[in-house]
Amino acid sequence: MNLYNPSARTFMLLLASAFLLGSCGNHSQEGASADSSAQSAKAQRIAAMKQVTDQHSFARPEEARIIHLDWNAAVNFDTRTISGTATYDIQAAESADRILFDTHELTIDAVTVDGEAAAFSLGEAQPFLGRPLNIPIGPGAQKVAITYTSDPGADALLWVEAQGEKAPFLFTQSQAILARTWIPVQDSPGIRFSYDATVQVPQGLMALMSAENPTEMSPDGRYTFTMEQPIPAYLLALAAGEVEFRSVGERCAVYAVPELIEDAAYEFAEMEELLLAAESLYGAYAWDRYDLLILPAAFPFGGMENPRLTFATPTIIAGDRSLVALVAHELAHSWSGNLVTNATWDDFWLNEGFTVYFEQRIMEAVYGRETSEMLATLSYQGLVDEVDAISDRNPDDTHLKLHLAGRNPDDGMTAIAYDKGYFFLRLMEETVGRERFDAWLAGYFAEYAFKGMDTERFVDYLNETLLTSEADKAAVRLDEWIYGPGLPDNCPSVSSPRIQRVDATLTAWEAGELTTANLPWEDWMYQERYRFLSNLADNTSAERMAELDATWAIGSTGNNEVLFAWMEQAIRSGYDTSYPRVEQFLIEVGRRKFLTPLYRAMKETGQMNMARDIYAKARPGYHAVATGTMDELLDWE
Ligand code: BES
Ligand code: ZN
Repeated sequence: MNLYNPSARTFMLLLASAFLLGSCGNHSQEGASADSSAQSAKAQRIAAMKQVTDQHSFARPEEARIIHLDWNAAVNFDTRTISGTATYDIQAAESADRILFDTHELTIDAVTVDGEAAAFSLGEAQPFLGRPLNIPIGPGAQKVAITYTSDPGADALLWVEAQGEKAPFLFTQSQAILARTWIPVQDSPGIRFSYDATVQVPQGLMALMSAENPTEMSPDGRYTFTMEQPIPAYLLALAAGEVEFRSVGERCAVYAVPELIEDAAYEFAEMEELLLAAESLYGAYAWDRYDLLILPAAFPFGGMENPRLTFATPTIIAGDRSLVALVAHELAHSWSGNLVTNATWDDFWLNEGFTVYFEQRIMEAVYGRETSEMLATLSYQGLVDEVDAISDRNPDDTHLKLHLAGRNPDDGMTAIAYDKGYFFLRLMEETVGRERFDAWLAGYFAEYAFKGMDTERFVDYLNETLLTSEADKAAVRLDEWIYGPGLPDNCPSVSSPRIQRVDATLTAWEAGELTTANLPWEDWMYQERYRFLSNLADNTSAERMAELDATWAIGSTGNNEVLFAWMEQAIRSGYDTSYPRVEQFLIEVGRRKFLTPLYRAMKETGQMNMARDIYAKARPGYHAVATGTMDELLDWE
């Protein structure tokens, strides 16, 4: 049985009506024997939960909100459109005379309210946000149905053309505010709804969603889905491709195209182990199954935590299971993010910082402290570099709590939310002790399951439940971490003996005290290789690069993290033997985390012509999230 959710729909109805009555009851499980004063403190905290305003959505949930979606749609590869009808169950305040939705470049064909045609209107388009869809409603309105078509250029969607034998592929990327480019919805992380869907795709493709999924191809291309648990719109996801299903555990499976299914099943054979480790840390998994879908290499991210079905880049298939930390990360979001959700994108660190912390704990539990400390050391280095870079542009962007009003919420996707967030949680763990911290964190997930959380409410909760002593408050200095710039000087220190040895080895090699042939390259794990390559001096000569390549064949490694670090250095050193590999990589792979530094390295070393030549070829295959960033970097019109 699902702990949280006997019936998500009743749950949401109750939640919404309690909310509209002004007192928000807690419908998550409550032990009957729980201590009554703790119980009333909890009741008070929850009663004080008020809707925070999300600057990135036109919805006004205090007037009227969606609680369930019934989606009926067809995917058309020829026109590159998704069209259909989104029918919502709504909950409206008595005085409400409208319900507002988010749309972005959608064509709205018709709207009905409880079966009657409604005189809807679309407001002015605003940068990043799109247009509000205003639907008049009367008292007691219950169902709103919107018939629409998406734009061929919809930012969430990536259409991969059929190529020879290869079937076409479509996937969505809704986070942060792109769901509204493929479905009219109240696109705010604080608004949750359950859903059912019926989706028609071309025959020969399997459709998958962030929901209960098929395991076999349907003969007619028609699929039905259910997501019982209420989720925010940024977790709505759809993919369609010629994919196969391969079970790797009781609750885990991988989906991938036939060419990759074997490799993927091997690479992610440990998924169930990660899931069990996560549950023993912070409580029962709330979403039944945890499956992984390997997307085309054009996917602009490493992974996306779509509930029940993480979407992932194929670049984490290394052949040796060395890059599974990414799966640990997306899995951790099943608690931090998908259960307890950032209320607005200014609170993004509540999703990502907690998730990096949780990811590290899973990695430690499954692979040992040595491995997790290596990862923490790399993340510390990345954080220090990024704090420097961001401080030069806009020091406010180094605060955990962000101010993204009027901006693209994508701007918040930096090491601050992830790694500053991680070190803040680690500081609290080290201050109060792991045992207490773990019990506290499990309690936090249970208490706020299926709810939104904003930074201010979180600070209150923290002060009431964890940092209760003056000494602990003084040791943590949370205001500095959350509302202040840079990295406070009480940031925990990480130490990894293996990484220290790499650093010493690098120094010796650069000083000529160690020959290339004597580097312990073969003994190093990928994290050590990555550290070595990413810390090579900028002025490392092309001859030295050639020597490394000839001795260790680094330019042809199958580990994409190592390859990436190598290529960046190759560009900076002018080691042109690797350039064809760079070009091929940039055409195949659309993962922004790799693209930005590679193109930037070309730009910063006077190789802008090469950058623009490659980009011209690669750009048509990239997702809008990636072209948005690269267009700006390369002054592309
Ligand atoms: N939820 C994020 C991806 C995201 C964030 C998409 C903001 C759009 C807007 C996902 O969980 C993530 O953090 N992915 C990382 C991998 C991770 C191991 C740090 C990525 O894709 O690089
Ligand atoms: Zn994440």
